[in-house]
Order: sequence, then C-alpha cells, then structure tokens
Amino acid sequence: MCGIVGYTGSQQAAPILLDGLKKLEYRGYDSAGIAVMDDRGISVSKVRGRIANLCEKTDSGRSVPGVTGIGHTRWATHGAPTEENAHPHISNDGRFAVVHNGIIENYIPLREELTADGYCFESETDTEVIVHLIEKYYSGDVRQALIKTANRLRGSYALGVICAGEPGKIYAVREASPLILGAGSGENFFASDVTALVAHTRNVIYLEDGEFAELTCDSVNVFDCLGHAVEKKASRVMWDVQAAEKGGYEHFMLKEIMEQPGAVKATIAPRIKDGRIRFDELDISDEELAGINKIMITACGSAYYAGCAGRSAIERLCRIPVEVQLASELRYSDPLIDGHTLLIVISQSGETADTIAALKECRSRGAKVLAVVNVVGSSVAKLADYTVYTWAGPEIAVATTKGYTTQAAVLYMLAVYFAERLGRLGESGGLTEELLSLPRLVQQAIDMNPAIPSLAKKYHASSSVFFIGRNTDYAVALEGALKMKEISYLHAEAYAAGELKHGTIALIDEHQPVVALCCNPSIMEKTMSNIIEVKSRGAEVLALTFQGNQKILPAADDLLFIPEVDPLFSAVVEIVPLQLLAYYVAKENGCDIDKPKNLAKSVTVE
Ligand code: G6P
Repeated sequence: MCGIVGYTGSQQAAPILLDGLKKLEYRGYDSAGIAVMDDRGISVSKVRGRIANLCEKTDSGRSVPGVTGIGHTRWATHGAPTEENAHPHISNDGRFAVVHNGIIENYIPLREELTADGYCFESETDTEVIVHLIEKYYSGDVRQALIKTANRLRGSYALGVICAGEPGKIYAVREASPLILGAGSGENFFASDVTALVAHTRNVIYLEDGEFAELTCDSVNVFDCLGHAVEKKASRVMWDVQAAEKGGYEHFMLKEIMEQPGAVKATIAPRIKDGRIRFDELDISDEELAGINKIMITACGSAYYAGCAGRSAIERLCRIPVEVQLASELRYSDPLIDGHTLLIVISQSGETADTIAALKECRSRGAKVLAVVNVVGSSVAKLADYTVYTWAGPEIAVATTKGYTTQAAVLYMLAVYFAERLGRLGESGGLTEELLSLPRLVQQAIDMNPAIPSLAKKYHASSSVFFIGRNTDYAVALEGALKMKEISYLHAEAYAAGELKHGTIALIDEHQPVVALCCNPSIMEKTMSNIIEVKSRGAEVLALTFQGNQKILPAADDLLFIPEVDPLFSAVVEIVPLQLLAYYVAKENGCDIDKPKNLAKSVTVE
C-alpha cells in the first residue's frame, strides 16, 4: 500500500527520497512521485509505474535540486494509476505539496465545497482536497493550517507536507495510518515504515493518531490538535540494513522462506525456560484466564490462515471453543463477544485497516485483546491489552512466509501455555521439546525437497490447481492455495478433502493437478480415499506427506515431503514445501514474485 518518505538536511533530498521509496516498493504501488524544494520553490516529478521510471525521469534525482522534500508510492484507490493521480499533489498557488496514505472518506463534499470556492482539481484522487484545504486555511502559519485541515478530514491519513515559504521544513500528520519520524544527525526524516529509515538512522519516533510534527535539519517538534507541544521519546530500531536486503537471493520471498528456521527459533526458543513456556509479556491473571469461555481469532489474508492453523491446537489443549473469523467480516457481524471472550488478533504489519477495526469493535464489546504482531510499535500492538511479538524480522516480499510460520508458532505456544496454566495439559506433558524441534524440522522441510523446481516445470502451465486436506492439512491447504494464487496468478482452490464429493469433484478431470496434503497419520486413510477419488477421475496428484510414508506411493504421481512432526504443531512445517512450490511455479511463469500485481504488503485502507 502507499508509501511516504520525507527528508530535510544538508544533502540533496531527491536521491535520498528515491532510495527511501525503493525501500518501500515492497508495500505495493502503481505510480510514484517526489516534490523537492529549493529557494525558487517546489518542483514535482511524477511517473506511472516503477521507481526506476522516476529515477530515469529525474536523472536519479540530479535534475531536481534541493535539500528538502517528500516522496510517495501510490497504490491506486480513488482514480486510475496515472501520472495526474500520482502524489505529490500541489496547491493551486504552488505553495504546498502533499503526499498522503489512507482514504479521505468525506472527500466528495469537500471537493464540491472547494470547487465552489474556486479551487481547480487536477486529479481524481481523494487526496487533492487536502492540499487545497491547506491553501484555503493558510494565513501565514502552516501549523494552524494543518490543524484546521485535519479537523475537516474524516477517514485515515498519514500526510507529508512541504511549504514553499518555509525552506528546510517538512511537516507530518498522522491519523489511523502509520507514520514514523527518523531522528538523524543534522538531518531528519519521516516514512511510513522503518525500512525506509534504517539506512540513515536507528532512532525513530512513532507518531500517534492526532499528532502533527514539524521537522527541520536539527529539530523534531511534535504537537497536538490544539498546537500544544507533545513530548516524545525516540526508540531504537533493532533491525539492521542487511535484514531488509536480498542477501544474495534472487527474491526476498526466497530469502524469507530460507530464513524461517531462524525466525521460528527466535520466536520460540527465548520463551522456553527449564522445560516450560514463559510469556513474560502476558500478565493475564489466573482469574482472568479461568474466566475465558471463548477465544475469537481474527485477522486478514495469511494471518487469518495462521489463525485457522492454530485453532485446533488451542481447542484440543485448552478445551476452550475457538472461532476464527476474517476481520473484514467480523467488524460488521454484530459479534457475540463479551468480557469472557479473549480476542486474539494476528497481524504481521500491525497496520491492516480491517484488523484494527475488528479489534476496536470487539474491544468495545468487552473482549480482552491479545495481539500477535511482528512490527514493533505498530497500531495493533499499541491497541491491544497484551502483545506477543513474532520475532520474524522485516518481511519485505508481499506474499508472507516467515510471518505466517512465526504466527502459527506463537499460537501453538499460547495453546500449550494457557493449557498448562489452566491445568489441562494432562498426559500431553510440557510439549516444549516438540515446539523446540520445529526450527530444525522447518529446515529439513526445505532440504528434503530438491525436486520442487522440476515439479514446478511440470505443473506451471496448468490453468488451475486444487489443494485438499483434512483438519490441519486443510488449514495449511488454504494458505498453500493462497500462496499459489498470490504470486503465480494460477487459479488455486483449497477444499476440505471430505467435502470434495459435495460439489467440487465435478471440476476434476483428466490431468487436473491436485495437491493432496496427507501429513496426519490418524486421518491419513480418510484423505487417501479422497486421493483415490480424484485419481480415478484422471487427476494428477502431487501428495505432500511425511518422509517414509510408503502407503501413499501407489496413489500419488509426485511427492513433496516433510519430516515427521507432531500433528498438533505441523502447519509450521507443512507449509514450507507449498511456499517453495508457489515460488518456483511463479518463477516459471515469469511473475514479479516480490511485488505481485494488484497486491499490497500492508493494507491500510478498508
Ligand atoms: C495483505 C498481504 C498478506 C497479509 C495480509 C494481512 O493482504 O498481502 O500477505 O497476510 O495483508 O496482513 P497483516 O500485516 O495484517 O498480517
């Protein structure tokens, strides 16, 4: 989704802005632009398509001199991805330039009002009302103009603003859309996420909703909607620059798949001491825990599927009913939630608009909120009562991999931890050995599938792929199919294997690829029957099973393997060959793997 950068200092701004925008490319975008200011005023350069076009247009920034500027990558919402609709937008008098992430919900009446006032619009965007409002309210004081403008806006916005009368200053405004200030030495920055900042500074200040900031090369001032100064503390970002680079891999996605053993280990191992799980960050009292009669898990995309994968471990171990709901549905569903509900919110970015809205809705009905989040200091983390971080490190590829596996790992740990505290673990023992073995098993799942690139050559030209499985295998099938769709653009559908005969089997005919997940010995024979059903209708079966499973050989055309793993915790391991399969199919199809079309990494609008 859209990305923002801002710079003020003594270096030329344009190359720094372009570099920052490149770091934000992973968020997904379809046009880009920068506005740079010098003594002569503001010059704006915009392009359709990639940052590379903007570099070409500006001679890598050399043709737009100035030490102050703002930049933007736009993911089209209101208006097509054209140069006119790209940000920055400029006021009619040329005094202000604005970049915006988010959606202005009341832009239509504002546009009518401003048009009646005589302002001319050059784009179809909701954003353009902002820059005209700033011009309208400006009478010599930019801060006041920004406060008055923000008072008129409904919706979500992170804004970057420059004013031609104030060289060396950049302004930022935040409401329900992430924006982070970077405090350097003799230079200051803002950006919509830290990946654009870490090359310059590790000292960051998280703006809160309703806050404004005025940055010069040597000052950072934050103020509220009354113009009063707000004291802010800088935090230190632990991610290093290399963590957000490809490190020799062809794509971030492949690098992130390979990083999973380390990410899962970083998430699990520090939380296990002396054979027991410890969540020092969770101060839920025994009484509170005993009072929980329902767990609701909510999230979007792969995070939702991680919830589906974690659900059965929680139910089986804790004996508490668990519902998993898509955040975009939950928010409007008048949910049955009260003070005895624990809401588990899962989000890699912590900024997904639907997820945040569902969180707020459930909270207003009394639920306690436990967030499972990767990005430290993100909105979901701040809104929750308790936050458990997945220590996956920065995830750049749009299609999540290590985000998903670390989320599932946290849910497994919560299942064991809560069950133990509730005295319900019984014969299961501590299960910590099983959890601690997951990083090793993830590594084995990577190592034991060297045939995937050649399998991708066999299957990449199919028009669709079905994924089938039961229980956890089904939950993993959902994520496997999503990975395939997202990056290879192959039509992929996941079905509960036992449900096939109630309709979907009508679609199975000669040479239809079916990926059959068969990793749980206790229900293997049931899934085997479904494999035989599709096989006898001519399907090509690519079975995913544990190594050494001889029984499956006669039924499968091709095999993907995982090592033996406790079925309670198997999703973290099972998904790995499916991630690799999607990756290599996408590669065969020549797709833009890290930045799939139409998708965004962090979906900060509804
Ligand atoms: C987008 C991404 C998905 C992600 C989903 C939820 O759709 O493309 O990969 O699973 O958002 O994101 P979150 O940051 O909340 O986990």
